[in-house]
Amino acid sequence: MAIISCSFVLIFLMSVVSFPHFIDASVSDACTAAAAKSSNINHDFCVTSLQVDPKSASANYVSLAQIATKLASENATSTKAKIKDLLAQPGNGNIKPELSTCQDLYSEMIDSLSDAAKAISSFHYDDAMTYLSAALDAPADCEDTFAEKRNASVLSVEDANAKQLTAIALAFLNI
Ligand SMILES: *[C@@H]1O[C@H](CO)[C@@H](O)[C@H](O)[C@H]1NC(C)=O
Ligand SMILES: *[C@@H]1O[C@H](CO)[C@@H](O)[C@H](O)[C@H]1NC(C)=O
Repeated sequence: MAIISCSFVLIFLMSVVSFPHFIDASVSDACTAAAAKSSNINHDFCVTSLQVDPKSASANYVSLAQIATKLASENATSTKAKIKDLLAQPGNGNIKPELSTCQDLYSEMIDSLSDAAKAISSFHYDDAMTYLSAALDAPADCEDTFAEKRNASVLSVEDANAKQLTAIALAFLNI
């Protein structure tokens, strides 16, 4: 009896270990895999971003997705604050509608990233991917509002960062 339950435990452990989400990988290898999943992802950007969090060094793909989601959320929060500052500057009157649109988009993005983080924590990876896909739209839509008015985007760097960090989180859940 003891032998039987022991082998069940062993089979369970083996299935957990062989499940791709639980394989440890170096940050660089993980970013190579992520970049292969999405053309939005630059390998070096991925490594540089994730290395900000020391936990990345020993993280599996799911943990890396959680870290990337957190970084994307911090980024989006700081971008939202920047947009607020830009809106307060009188010189930006001509791009006020675009800035306001982007402000709303970043609020939605922060909510989606928060939902994604909760879904990852509770092992609902499909839901997390849905929330991350929604979050991914915000920086693209923000860029589009400037493009539609033929205005140069004042948020192109921020939009590109938010987009890549979110794409990285999504790719790690999709590996
Ligand atoms: C946003 O992300 C970029 C790229 O990882 C990073 O250089 C920057 O420091 C981040 N900013 C914040 C406020 O998190
Ligand atoms: C934005 O576009 C409007 C209308 O096309 C133009 O009047 C304005 O100068 C542009 N502003 C910037 C910052 O490019």
